[in-house]
Amino acid sequence: MSVISKAKKVTTRTFFRKKRKGEKLAVLTAYDYYTARILEQSGVDSLLVGDSLNMVLYGHKSTLSAELDKMLFHTKAVADGSERALVIADMPFLSYQSSIETAIINAGRFLKEAGAEAVKLEGGLEIVPTVKRLIEVGIPVMGHIGLTPQAIHRFGGARVQGREEAHKNYYIDSAQALDEAGCFSCVLELMTTPLAEKISKNVKMATIGIGAGKECDGQVLVINDIIGLYTEFKPRFVRRYADVAGIIEKAAGQFVEDVRRGDYPTEEESFPE
Ligand code: KIV
Repeated sequence: MSVISKAKKVTTRTFFRKKRKGEKLAVLTAYDYYTARILEQSGVDSLLVGDSLNMVLYGHKSTLSAELDKMLFHTKAVADGSERALVIADMPFLSYQSSIETAIINAGRFLKEAGAEAVKLEGGLEIVPTVKRLIEVGIPVMGHIGLTPQAIHRFGGARVQGREEAHKNYYIDSAQALDEAGCFSCVLELMTTPLAEKISKNVKMATIGIGAGKECDGQVLVINDIIGLYTEFKPRFVRRYADVAGIIEKAAGQFVEDVRRGDYPTEEESFPE
């Protein structure tokens, strides 16, 4: 066990504390056991099992078709592989919007069956009653406002939010209401830096930006984006730290060549009588 994995367990209180102290929070998505274990060693504060997995693991065009069972399955793998980071599960499209009862039952499954420690819900003012009830029954909630991918067809594409006055007010009011409802944190996705700054300064919960500038209390990115494993497209806010797709292609290409040339396996890689 490394020094990092012996560090103190991150809880929802850590988010509030780090915000108060002005310490930035680093969040990454994770979808499987071994990636979670590796990311634990990086010192990341939280692992988000995002419904982005529907695109970056399964090749779908959007997050809309991510099923509840698929999200539970991947959340369990990540929770099993993580020790210190706070594990947050993304509630998929239509698993919480139809009624508060449905939201409680489904969110509860992430904690009871999959080992998540919090859930994330997309939406603003309209989902505040649901968020309140979830928190009342003991389920910590991370909000998600700005460009919410589950509503991508309503947005009509990935447009930067907060440039129109009416929208700005909606996001400020939504953030305030989610804060008052008791969210420990809220993702701010694809919005202007001044709007994200204003929201971050006005709430107690920690704001976690993705494409929302540096004034947020923390940042989140999709792991497959930053390691260069998902290469379909690269949003402007993604910083690529590695070229894993290139590494895999090169390694697989060398294997194919070695097999065809008869260079693999050698005697050392085989078993005598
Ligand atoms: O699904 C996801 O991975 C997300 C984050 C990128 C915020 O919602």
